[in-house]
Amino acid sequence: MELFHGNIITSKNRNELSVWEDSYIAVDHGLVEGIYPQMPEFADIPVTDYGEDLIIPAFSDLHVHAPQYPQRGTQMDLLLHDWLHQYTFPLERRFEDPEFARAAYDAFLDDMLEHGTMHAVIFGTIHREATGYLIERMERMGLYGLVGKVNMDMDSPDYLCETTEDSLRETETFLERYQSNRTAKPILTPRFAPTCTWKLLKGLGTLGYKYQTGVQTHLVESLWEAQQAKKLYPECGCDTGIYEQAGLLGNGPVVGAHFIFPEDEDIRIMKKYGGYAVQCPDSTNNILAGIMRTGALADEGIRIGLGSDIAGASNLGIYSQIARSVQLSKYKVFYEPEGNRTISFEEAFYMGTKEGGALFGKTGSLEPGYAFDALVIGGIADRFYKLSPVQLLERFCYLGETKHIRARYLGGRKVCKTAGGTG
Ligand code: GUN
Ligand code: FE
Repeated sequence: MELFHGNIITSKNRNELSVWEDSYIAVDHGLVEGIYPQMPEFADIPVTDYGEDLIIPAFSDLHVHAPQYPQRGTQMDLLLHDWLHQYTFPLERRFEDPEFARAAYDAFLDDMLEHGTMHAVIFGTIHREATGYLIERMERMGLYGLVGKVNMDMDSPDYLCETTEDSLRETETFLERYQSNRTAKPILTPRFAPTCTWKLLKGLGTLGYKYQTGVQTHLVESLWEAQQAKKLYPECGCDTGIYEQAGLLGNGPVVGAHFIFPEDEDIRIMKKYGGYAVQCPDSTNNILAGIMRTGALADEGIRIGLGSDIAGASNLGIYSQIARSVQLSKYKVFYEPEGNRTISFEEAFYMGTKEGGALFGKTGSLEPGYAFDALVIGGIADRFYKLSPVQLLERFCYLGETKHIRARYLGGRKVCKTAGGTG
């Protein structure tokens, strides 16, 4: 058992934070045992004192492309389709080279941890070996993940287009090999409807059922994607309907990135399977997809997490996406007031921690029984103007940098110096 002292903040529910000022959090075998306003009686155990610093849960990134990490912060001048073909696909091709993949994935994971993200739903590339390296390293580090070997067997450049048979065979090998992992588990990853044949989708549905594995994809991200999905598969009714009809829903977690242009039927299906819609605020801005109806969808009962969607976004910090999500909800209401509402900081923090973390088990909160995956935040106060712990947390999300994360705990163990992201 170990005690940590500080200002402890975690989400109570969608709209409220639990704030424990000047308190103690007890951690036993990597799990939170309890939070105490005074030093507990049984306290003949080590105390680590973080003074007035904040102790908060680590973040969850529900949509990120690890292979696009080398591209971050550049090449933002094209819209989705052209951006993929001109910049992203040629980069993803390079992951056929295991040495390149190892260097890029090492840098990505170090930087993700540097930014305080310990749980992530990740796209690899079509390459099984490279994606295998990524999932193995996450498992070794104890990072929580749902990691996918990407499937694409049509309308893609030759160098990134699999045969249906290869795609299914390699995916099955990937599932077999990693299905018993403890923290970093496989997830099926058809890229999006425009690059997947029906035979592939049905085959993946069969694998999903056989291995009881969930699915991640891009859902109604742009008008082009939504229309293309319906044109390709008109009998499925809507983009989400394609995955339902292929048997891909109901075998495990369902994670749909973006969900910006859903029809009623998309919403009905997502609710039926308890699927997550992932808002990726910076990416939405950079490749101009549109703005999710975050508040309205949450009110309808859809689970919503936050994603960086590197390299659509350039910044790995989910704390920045929390602030951006609040900002985007204001634009949404300004330009489309009908049926939309703004979201609060508390709500956005919930999406980036407890709501997102629930995908991985008991992570994303500091309630008893949860993994002590936590961050210590400091160096963000002014000497001349007192802010409350919640205001300091809000400030961290608006202007924080990795230097403000003074310590990181993963499963109760302190993470020693991360290498940062420069490779
Ligand atoms: N849709 C299909 N592939 C991608 C991708 O790599 N990034 C984003 N943002 N959208 C996609
Ligand atoms: Fe994406």
